[in-house]
Amino acid sequence: MSAFLRSLGVRHPLIQAPMSGSNTPALVSAVSAAGALGSLGAGYLEPQSLLDQAAQIRAATNQPFALNLFVLPDDFVVDEAQVDAIRRRLDALMESEGLAVRTERPARWAPRFSDQLAALREARPAVASFAFDLLDHTQVRELQARGIRVVGTATSVAEARAWAARGADAVSVQGAEAGGHRGTFLHAPEEAMVGLFALVPLAVAAVDVPVIAAGGIMDGRGMVAAEVLGADASQLGTAFLACPESAAAEAWKRDLLQAQDHRVGTIYSFSGRAARGLRNRFVEAMQPFAGELPPYPVLNALTAPLRRAAAAAGRGDLLSEWCGQAAALVRPMPAAELVRVLMEEYAAARCTAA
Ligand SMILES: Cc1cc2nc3c(=O)[nH]c(=O)nc-3n(C[C@H](O)[C@H](O)[C@H](O)COP(=O)(O)O)c2cc1C
Repeated sequence: MSAFLRSLGVRHPLIQAPMSGSNTPALVSAVSAAGALGSLGAGYLEPQSLLDQAAQIRAATNQPFALNLFVLPDDFVVDEAQVDAIRRRLDALMESEGLAVRTERPARWAPRFSDQLAALREARPAVASFAFDLLDHTQVRELQARGIRVVGTATSVAEARAWAARGADAVSVQGAEAGGHRGTFLHAPEEAMVGLFALVPLAVAAVDVPVIAAGGIMDGRGMVAAEVLGADASQLGTAFLACPESAAAEAWKRDLLQAQDHRVGTIYSFSGRAARGLRNRFVEAMQPFAGELPPYPVLNALTAPLRRAAAAAGRGDLLSEWCGQAAALVRPMPAAELVRVLMEEYAAARCTAA
């Protein structure tokens, strides 16, 4: 049982992970209404969309939910020559793959974080979670003053300590198994690839706040394993990707079912930041240009129209198919049903463990 989630009125020790680009208000509200904590990854949303989507969740359920942001600077310095060079590579790849889409230079590389944070404060979710960096003390206190609990993402014990020192109410530890972008901010990503079995007990010993376990958990057994290691709750992302309420492209959902573990790797070539997903045709084709990639969020913005076009064309092999190492255990079913199945498995596995 999760002390952290219970204090919010959430019945189950289960969090549906924020999944920017793949989550929808329908997914989040279905999970929250089913007694777990739904999270909306709002990292790619402009402030007004964040507010609109939070309102949609509220219209569908009166249960608590979380909003999640990527902590980024408001402005980015860009190497224009590097941008031009990678655009030529990407456009040539699209041409050779027969997709009539080309990179575009966006008006802004990413939404301004300070504006997103202001919108999040206004939206007033029960929980605000953050990845990619720390908030400062004032930002943490301002959220808490509005009754919003703050959760920080950590991929190492040092990062868990750093969030606890900033006053976070809980820390979500992201094991190396986890799908999507690495939250790492104090280390090079490859130096913070700690497996969840190591990371949970280490973090639990290091900080006084509840530790949430994320990475490779696909069923109730995994939730119990995380709990036995000291986790207060489990956060599952990939497990919810194949739900009908998820916005992941159909080709991506299909590919998840056949994901071979050796093809799930760390990928930089879609976004310029380490992320776990399927090593598909796009990833292989961009491999020779690994040293030429602009950093996040620049590359992420440049590939956005390509990924949209690939999804529309049913080309999973050209799209960022983020997923955790245990992706092949995914079960396509409505989110509320998945919560129910997970909790039944959790109860059964708990009896066995006791
Ligand atoms: C498609 C996808 C998108 C993700 N987007 C976010 C995000 O926006 N913010 C965030 O903090 N974590 C994000 N994550 C990471 C999750 O919070 C979590 O660490 C991860 O899903 C756990 O591993 P699992 O996918 O094996 O369950 C994402 C994960 C996936 C699979």
